[in-house]
Amino acid sequence: MKIQLIGSGNVGRSLIMLIKEKENTLKSLKTPLQIVSVSDSKGTAKNDKGLDLEQVLKHKTAGWKRFSQYVKGYTALKAIRNLESDVVVELTPSTPSGQPGLSHIKAALMQKKNVVTANKGPFIVAYEELVSLAERNHVRLLYEATVAAHLPVFCMVESCFKADHLMHLEGILNATTNFIIGEMEKGRDFQTALNYAIREGWAEPNYSDDIDGIDAARKVVILANSFFKRGAKIENVKIEGIRKIGPMITEAKQSHKKVKLVCNISKKANKLKMSVAPRLVSSDDPLTTVNGGDMGLKLTFETSQQIFVSAQFTGVKQTAYAVLNDIIKIGSLNQAC
Ligand SMILES: NC(=O)c1ccc[n+]([C@@H]2O[C@H](COP(=O)([O-])OP(=O)(O)OC[C@H]3O[C@@H](n4cnc5c(N)ncnc54)[C@H](OP(=O)(O)O)[C@@H]3O)[C@@H](O)[C@H]2O)c1
Repeated sequence: MKIQLIGSGNVGRSLIMLIKEKENTLKSLKTPLQIVSVSDSKGTAKNDKGLDLEQVLKHKTAGWKRFSQYVKGYTALKAIRNLESDVVVELTPSTPSGQPGLSHIKAALMQKKNVVTANKGPFIVAYEELVSLAERNHVRLLYEATVAAHLPVFCMVESCFKADHLMHLEGILNATTNFIIGEMEKGRDFQTALNYAIREGWAEPNYSDDIDGIDAARKVVILANSFFKRGAKIENVKIEGIRKIGPMITEAKQSHKKVKLVCNISKKANKLKMSVAPRLVSSDDPLTTVNGGDMGLKLTFETSQQIFVSAQFTGVKQTAYAVLNDIIKIGSLNQAC
C-alpha cells in the first residue's frame, strides 16, 4: 500500500520507526507499506517507488538540505493532489480552526484516498462533513488515535458490538489531568503537582487545554458524533477543569473515594448529554483503577451491559501504533481489529 505522510513531528517520526521495526510483520499480514511522500510545514520528500525511511529520519532531524528527494515549498496539499497513494496519514497539529488538517483530509477524501489521522481538530469543526465526504467517495476515514491513543474504542465498538446499542459512556480520557490528580492524592497541592507533571513530560508548558477540560471535551465530541448523534458540538459539552479540586481531594480521602476527571455521554429520549467534570468516584467503580497517566472507558450497552477497557499510556509510540493499526485495517479490507 502506498502511504503519504502529512506531518513528520513526534507521531509522524514514531510511525516511520514503527513501520521500519515491523516490516516483516506487515509483510506477513500481507500489508507491506511503502511511504511515497513525507510532508512537513516547509516541503515534501517524495519518491513514487518508496522513500528510504532511514534517510528520511536522518534528514528530518539533521535538515533536508542534502536530501535530493525533498522539495522545499512542495506543500502537503500539492502532494495529496498530485502523487499516487492509497492512504493519506494526517498528523499535523490539532488546532481550534481544524487547519491545516481539515484541508488536507478534505483534499485526500476528494481524491478518493483513504485517510488515517490522530488529529482531533478537523473533527471538532467538521465531523459530519468529513464522514459524509468519505462515505460519498467510498473511502475509509479512520481516527482511532484521536481518542485515548491506542486504547481500542472505535475499533472495538464497531467490530464487537455491531448488533448492540450503546447507551452510556464514561471515561478518563486525559492522561495529563489524571496524572496531576494522582499526584494531588499523594499530598501535593495543585500547583506543585502541575509543575511536577510539566517536569516529567506529562503536561505541555501550554497546559490549559488539558487542565481546563478542553482536550477531554474534544474527545467527548468525537465519541458523541461517532456513537450517539452526528452534529454534537463542543459548545454543548458542560466543561469543568481541575484547577479547583483541592477540597474535593480532601473529601475523597475522608470518604475512601477517588477524584477523577470524568467524561460522560448519555442519550435519553433523543436528548444528548455531554460533560467533562471532576467527580468523586467510589472504590468499586473500575474507573478508580485508571491511575497515573493511564486512560480508561466504561461503556454501557443495552444487551452486553458494562464493558470496561483501560490502557497504560507511556508515550508517543502507542499513538503511532494506533495509527498503524488503522492503516493495517484499511489494507486488510475491513477485517476486525
Ligand atoms: N503526541 C501524542 O502522543 C499524540 C496523541 C494523540 C493525538 N496526537 C495528535 O497527533 C497529531 C501530531 O502530533 P505530534 O505530537 O506529532 O505533533 P508535532 O510534533 O507538533 O508535529 C506536527 C507536524 O506537522 C507538521 N506540519 C505543521 N503544519 C503543516 C502543514 N501546513 N503542512 C504539512 N505539515 C505541517 C510539522 O512540520 P514541521 O516539522 O516543519 O514543524 C510537524 O512535522 C496532532 O494533531 C496531535 O494532537 C498526538
